[in-house]
Amino acid sequence: MYEFEDIYNNRVMLSFEDHPFSRDPKHVWVICRYQNQWLLTSHKNRGMEFPGGKVEDGETADQGAIREVKEETGGHVSKLKYIGQYKVDGREKVIIKNVYFAVIDKLEKQSTYFETNGPVLMKEIPGNIRKDNRYSFIMKDDVLTHCLDKIKKSNSI
Ligand code: GTP
Repeated sequence: MYEFEDIYNNRVMLSFEDHPFSRDPKHVWVICRYQNQWLLTSHKNRGMEFPGGKVEDGETADQGAIREVKEETGGHVSKLKYIGQYKVDGREKVIIKNVYFAVIDKLEKQSTYFETNGPVLMKEIPGNIRKDNRYSFIMKDDVLTHCLDKIKKSNSI
């Protein structure tokens, strides 16, 4: 279990165990790979980030993850792997999010990308991301670094 603060000084707990905080989390975040590149989305307000969002009523978290990737990037998930879960103790609410690694086999142009401007492909995630205001706050705490390490160590990429 890792514990640290996000950029808003909210307490974050991250674990790579099997659903340690909730069996039924309401948020998802998906670290995507497409043709040897990272696939992000460009959120209209927050900036560039891996796709994700809220699980809808009647949907499992895994289904929500696949849907969010499609909506925000046009990516079709061919493989979805649960990596871990994190909990943010926010000022107003506590959120619990599943993190996934997804392999994307097709990128299809969408008529809308919802609250984003659509897909962004990159070879490397920049080392100075925390100081770069083009990136979303959700890319700027230890969740990203630990999860990327985990993916690299698992030989998934
Ligand atoms: P609406 O209910 O649609 O208005 O969403 P919201 O803006 O309240 O956001 P959401 O419920 O997704 O998240 C509430 C708060 O939790 C955010 O303002 C953030 O402070 C925090 N939060 C959400 N997702 C993350 C995340 O991935 N990382 C971190 N560190 N904080 C997050």
